[in-house]
Amino acid sequence: EKAGYRHFMAKEIAEQPVVLAEALRSGGLAPTLPDVDFTGVDRVVLVACGTASYAGHVAKYWFESLAGLAAEVDIASEFRYRDPVLSEKSFAIFVSQSGETADTLAALRYAKEKVAKVLAVVNVPTSSIAREADVVLPIRAGVEVGVASTKAFTAQLLTLALLALKAGVDRGRISPEALAQRLAELQALPGLMNHTLSLGPRIAEVAEELSRAQDVLFLGRGAMFPLALEGALKLKEISYIHAEGYASGELKHGPIALIAPEVPVIVLAPRDGLFDKTVSNMQEVMARHGKVLLISDAKGVHEAGKGTWATLTLPDCPGPFAPILYALPAQLLAYHTAVAKGTDVDQPRNLAKSVTVE
Ligand code: M6R
Repeated sequence: EKAGYRHFMAKEIAEQPVVLAEALRSGGLAPTLPDVDFTGVDRVVLVACGTASYAGHVAKYWFESLAGLAAEVDIASEFRYRDPVLSEKSFAIFVSQSGETADTLAALRYAKEKVAKVLAVVNVPTSSIAREADVVLPIRAGVEVGVASTKAFTAQLLTLALLALKAGVDRGRISPEALAQRLAELQALPGLMNHTLSLGPRIAEVAEELSRAQDVLFLGRGAMFPLALEGALKLKEISYIHAEGYASGELKHGPIALIAPEVPVIVLAPRDGLFDKTVSNMQEVMARHGKVLLISDAKGVHEAGKGTWATLTLPDCPGPFAPILYALPAQLLAYHTAVAKGTDVDQPRNLAKSVTVE
């Protein structure tokens, strides 16, 4: 069942190029946008737990930048115990791999009568969350066995990217030419992912050293900030190393006090419009003898790699969808670190695949 892989997680990480390629083809030869009409919608509210909530955080950037649509993200367990202000012009989007997460389901039931439509982004189309939603958007990742979510995360991101594009089209923000370009960027992802997966042996070397750390920080800016949170969660879950993700700009508001040679800092920084700002935060870390792993593209590594502990060079990924690609090194780092530590990768202690109690 593991198809020759040592762990389900390794298999599921490796499946991502095929999962994405197939999900993009699911409606025919060319990718199709979801059948959801955003006309008149004033806001989307994304609600989820754990990794699925980080997919929601990335999608917030896309709804805002691609569709000019206000977007909020909430953790399901918080959403349901506040008095969230919802309007009948809003869509609420519930993201869940299993479709059975108790808090997410309860949040959906709370929102159902208060918003225009409830959408479910799920991997299991027969799940409770799917059954109770007005619109079901299947992510088509196939069965995910590893407790640490990997292929479901990137498949959630793809579905949310297509949804944000549909919102942009419906709101007159995306021309047919721009749409064609964005879809081409999505279609390039499986190839870029294959290239990134080939960095596995190099990532395993870096992970060997990472496995000796007690604390690790992840930094990212813009849509890479949720990826920093996801990288830290993955590492915590399966290697039991304490890790935190921060927005790079928050560094000097507290976490910089933690910088020391024995605390590796992983910087997720593609060479985009925010690169220089992130690099200047990275340099603050290095000036305090912090040990930096820079994950960027060739240009970024060339410009800023000097003085770092290590670098990982990903292929160029122009456009807004780089977070989908940068999920892979984050997953592989966690995986190889856990393997180096000898922890139970697929069944980490204290965790269940589906959290059906509050
Ligand atoms: O099935 P769901 O997507 O609703 O699950 C949500 C979280 O429990 C899940 O993403 C969890 O954080 C994973 N173990 C992360 O790897």
